[in-house]
Amino acid sequence: TKGAAMVTAVASRVQAQRKQIDKVLALFQLTREQLVGIRDKMRVEFEYGLKRDTHPLATVKMLPTYVCGMPDGTEKGKFLALDLGGTNFRVLLVKIRSGRRSVRMYNKIFTIPLEIMQGTGEELFDHIVQCIADFLDYMGLKGAQLPLGFTFSFPCRQASIDKGTLIEWTKGFKATDCEGEDVVDMLREAIKRRNEFDLDIVAVVNDTVGTMMTCGYEDRNCEVGLIAGTGSNMCYMEEMRNIELVEGDEGKMCINTEWGGFGDNGCLDDIRTQYDKEVDEGSLNPGKQRYEKMTSGMYLGEIVRQILIDLTKQGLLFRGQISERLRTRGIFETKFLSQIESDRLALLQVRKILQQLGLDSTCEDSIVVKEVCGAVSRRAAELYGAGLAAIVEKRREDQGFEHLKITVGVDGTLYKLHPHFSRILQETVKELAPRCDVTFMLSEDGSGKGAALITAVAKRLQQARRE
Ligand code: GLC
Repeated sequence: TKGAAMVTAVASRVQAQRKQIDKVLALFQLTREQLVGIRDKMRVEFEYGLKRDTHPLATVKMLPTYVCGMPDGTEKGKFLALDLGGTNFRVLLVKIRSGRRSVRMYNKIFTIPLEIMQGTGEELFDHIVQCIADFLDYMGLKGAQLPLGFTFSFPCRQASIDKGTLIEWTKGFKATDCEGEDVVDMLREAIKRRNEFDLDIVAVVNDTVGTMMTCGYEDRNCEVGLIAGTGSNMCYMEEMRNIELVEGDEGKMCINTEWGGFGDNGCLDDIRTQYDKEVDEGSLNPGKQRYEKMTSGMYLGEIVRQILIDLTKQGLLFRGQISERLRTRGIFETKFLSQIESDRLALLQVRKILQQLGLDSTCEDSIVVKEVCGAVSRRAAELYGAGLAAIVEKRREDQGFEHLKITVGVDGTLYKLHPHFSRILQETVKELAPRCDVTFMLSEDGSGKGAALITAVAKRLQQARRE
């Protein structure tokens, strides 16, 4: 009959649509072989970055940090810390008490307006100093000459712990006249311009390093720091003899890998999708930080958005209507992805979230959106896992161990907020580095506390040298 024919027609249309959706989702599914391949390529890039001859062209920069030791518990004092480069800008006062390994912190969050993030360097640093002044005022500390640790979460070439030349901006920053400049000098000059207080800038630190330090304060096995947040990066303790850019063969030094640049030489092209390319092309730094753009909080929502646009164009979503909202960059923040993927959430609630984002969805739409989010974040977690497996395996081999027990300090909104990310990351590492026993340690406020700890150690060494 006619009715039956119509039912069959609808059913086969639904089936065909499902196939199209699955085809898109399949682009994000990585096989075990692919992940092993990514792990091995990452390993090759680590070695390129460490070797003097290949370093200049390396995409994973492997930057020496001049952080050579962990805090030993004797550190004490009051420190200021700045934290620039994550979700917020913060100024902190950190009090470290020796012996008991206890740390107290007070902090204030400031926003950095977009026009300052992307204005001139002078404006950016004047704004930072303005925030410090507000904080000192607020804490009743004006005039106090405290040692300061600056967590500056961008790639810096360091020649000592208190010097860091910005190589290039990443994430959402674009302030002019900073690249190629020493950020500590820029901060000192801005303090001078204001001519209101003096600060003793002792250390400039990457957030990964601060995170590793904070966890290392409690766990001696912590030799890796990982950030899965706005950006994606990892640091670890390397044997001095393997770091060709720095003189000396004794002991270890922390290396900031800047692994976000992995793939910038094309080595990930076989797994990059058209959506990854679109996200890259629409970013502030096209062609750069390709691995970061496949894995970190700042970009995952953008990948999702690109897929949704494409599915809508194919008539598979939102009744084929691309709304103004869907065309808007940055609507899917990590916190929305995390909510959408939460297992406790009923589909009706997913629709509510989409509604909040200005997207009118049917029940079927919300199922597809959730699947898209799941595919994108799963791939991100697996890619992180492959990278992390590469470093723990390297550490195991370098030390000639059959088995390695190692702790990874972790921070970042993606790791902390997302309902599945951390589990998938951990499963992937286990699978790809079976001879390593990796413990994950969440760092509470890693970048701020870590900067203070590093400052405390640096200060102690400074004084020891003077005496
Ligand atoms: C970006 C920065 C890197 C930082 C990471 C996490 O990748 O280049 O320095 O550690 O984001 O914030």
